[in-house]
This record gives sequence, structure tokens and C-alpha cells, in this order.
Amino acid sequence: MSETGKIFVTGGAGFIGANFVNEWVRNTDGHVVNLDKLTYAGNLENLAEVEGNSRHTFVHGDICDRATVDRLLADHRPCAVVHFAAESHVDRSIHGPDEFIRTNINGTFTLLEAVRAHWVGLDEGARGGFRFLHVSTDEVYGSLHPADAPFTETKAYEPNSPYSASKAASDHLVRAYFHTYGLPVLTTNCSNNYGPYQFPEKLIPLVIRNALAGKPLPIYGDGMNVRDWLYVTDHCAAIRAVLKGGKVGETYNVGGWNEMPNLQIVKEICAILDELHPQSPCIPHASLITFVRDRPGHDRRYAIDARKIEREIGWRPVETFATGIRKTVQWYLEHQDWVANVESGAYREWVSTNYSDR
Ligand code: NAD
Ligand code: TYD
Repeated sequence: MSETGKIFVTGGAGFIGANFVNEWVRNTDGHVVNLDKLTYAGNLENLAEVEGNSRHTFVHGDICDRATVDRLLADHRPCAVVHFAAESHVDRSIHGPDEFIRTNINGTFTLLEAVRAHWVGLDEGARGGFRFLHVSTDEVYGSLHPADAPFTETKAYEPNSPYSASKAASDHLVRAYFHTYGLPVLTTNCSNNYGPYQFPEKLIPLVIRNALAGKPLPIYGDGMNVRDWLYVTDHCAAIRAVLKGGKVGETYNVGGWNEMPNLQIVKEICAILDELHPQSPCIPHASLITFVRDRPGHDRRYAIDARKIEREIGWRPVETFATGIRKTVQWYLEHQDWVANVESGAYREWVSTNYSDR
């Protein structure tokens, strides 16, 4: 796929989408049409870098709105769709699954239907080069025991939360549109991302924010749940590589080769903050660690086997956890105004919903 044409991105004002859009505009000559509903997780400040750039068109709208998606596809005739838009937080899916079903399942279905109609109408050359890349998660594979092998692309789906179940459903729809209609789809299933612009409801930015505010650092359960951590710009590079070199109909697991228990992640963040923020009244920041009631159905371990994307496409992550987490903590230290701006009434309400009775 060429990187000079127009691409259509959904959810490009969220954490990963915004990193992807900023990089795409910075590093290619292409144009991005960015459709985002601006839910609590969408933030135009994440796109300040491309504001006013003629190669970025932001559209405030919903992927569930077929007429809007049809109009954008007809007006812009993109050569690829990169689908990030989703409800993405497991704890929110436990408190209120409805939006997850609506956006992740019905929204993906609406988008697929609109894209299929657009794709069928393209001339033969354009149809052959067209790509629909669906951004998904390793959580669809379920939970691993300590001695289990990491997830490969052939692992059976065993989603355990409303979030992962809704993403699994969307993956199945995407797969079906390839097998039934021949739509040239690609799916990526990646591990936990971290880095700049991540909303402070997820573990890493929440811990940095709370530590800076001298608040407790909530660790669910015993803190020994394991995740694989992927620095966001490595993920964006993987998506670009799959768009360019991925085989249609295939799925690619994307991981950072950084499996770690949550407690260790939090301790590393605290140690970096002790060093980079020596004027803090809370040193050592690890003294703020507080064990709280576990998440219901909390998956014990995720681990990604990312050998397929390396073997077939040549992508490997650049960042180790040590380099990525240092950059991330530094970014949050330098962007405390960004964090302050997202701490609206709605954010405070969420903190009270999720943490007050733990
Ligand atoms: P995010 O929650 O930060 O952002 C989601 C974006 O989608 C927001 O800008 C939001 O406004 C937008 N959106 C939500 N509903 C919409 C709708 N109906 N129409 C249009 N826009 C809508 O999410 P993220 O962390 O950037 O994740 C992006 C994608 O990557 C998601 O599909 C997620 O499942 C997947 N993913 C994320 C991670 C991670 O660690 N963050 C890991 C694996 C996979
Ligand atoms: P999270 O960032 O919500 O990502 P996911 O659930 O998609 O993996 O959580 C990462 C891990 O951190 C997960 O095992 C849950 C745990 N966690 C805490 O221990 N405390 C918290 O306050 C949060 C938000 C998460």
C-alpha cells in the first residue's frame, strides 16, 4: 500500500490513534481523514501537532452513523481504513458494557458495511490495493497460566471481559468480511500499550498521575497479574508495516517482548519518579503503593508471541521496557497541564465509581 494517498482513520483522537495520526502526517506525504466521536477518551489536544495541517482532516462523528461514514468514504475515496475507534477500558466494561457492544460490535459492523460498499465501487486497480486494517487486542485470547506458551495467531479465542468479548466479536466480523466478500482486511492483535497521551484510567498513566499528586497507587489483587508492554510508537510502526507488507486475510500479533507483573511495573515507575522528580514530597513514591480489591474476572497473564510479524514482515519493537517507561514518565512530567485538562468532572466521577469501594 502506498503511503502517499489518503487514509481513513477511526478513533484518531484517542491514545494510540492520535500517536498514529501524528506520526503518519509527520513521516509520510499522505493525507489522513480522522473520524472520532470524542468520547471521554478522545481529545483534540492529542492532535495539536497536526492542527491546521492541510494533510489532516478531523471529522467529529460516530462510526455507528452509516450516513456519515458513507459520505466520508465517497468524498475522500481513501485507499485504506485503519480502525482504532473503540471503547477500550476493561474496568469501564465491567461497570457498563452497553457502549462496548454499541461501538465495538455494532460500530465495526456499520463500518465494514460502508467500507464494503465503497470497495465494491472502486475500479479494479484501486480495489486490489485497498486495505482495511482492524486494530485489536491480545485480550481476545483469554488468560494464560504461568507455564503456558505465549499467544500465537492460532490460539483459540477465550475472551473473559465484556471488553475483550466485544473486541473478539469485532475480529470475527472482520474475518467474515474477508472470507465471505473478499474485503482485503488485516487484523493486528497487540499487547498493552503505553506512552504519551494515554488517558489516566489505565495502569501506567494512572500511577504516574497519582504519584505526582501524592495519592495511593492502587494495585488490584496481589499485583502479580502479568501483561506484555508495548511502547506506542512501536505499535504504530507495526501497523504501518502490516499495512504495507501484510498478507490480506491474515492476523498479526504485536508485542513488546516485555512480560512483567503489575507490581514490578509500578515499582519501576516509582523509582524513575524518585530520580526525575527529586523535589517531590512523596519520596520514595513506592510508599504510596496500596493493594485494593481485585478486578472481577481479572485475567492472570497475557503474553504475545510476535515471531510471525517479525518473520513475515520484518517488524520488531525498538524500545525495551526500560527505555520506553523512562520516556513515558518524562513525557507525563513535562505535560502535567495535559493531565490536568483531562481531569474533568467526568474523570473524577470515574475515579469515584471504580475506586471508592475497593
Ligand atoms: P482510547 O480509548 O484511548 O481511544 C478510543 C478513541 O475512539 C477515542 O478517541 C474515542 O473518542 C473514539 N471513539 C469511541 N467510540 C467511538 C465511536 N462510536 N465512533 C468514533 N469514535 C469513537 O483507545 P486506545 O487505547 O487508543 O485504543 C485504540 C484501539 O486499540 C482500540 O480498538 C483498542 O481496543 C485497541 N487496543 C488498545 C490497547 C491499549 O493498550 N491501549 C491494546 C490493544 C488493543
Ligand atoms: P489496564 O491498564 O486497565 O489494562 P488491561 O486491563 O487492558 O490489561 O490494566 C493493566 C493491569 O493493571 C491489569 O492487570 C489491571 C491492573 N490495574 C491495577 O492493578 N490497578 C489499577 O488502578 C488499574 C487501572 C489497573
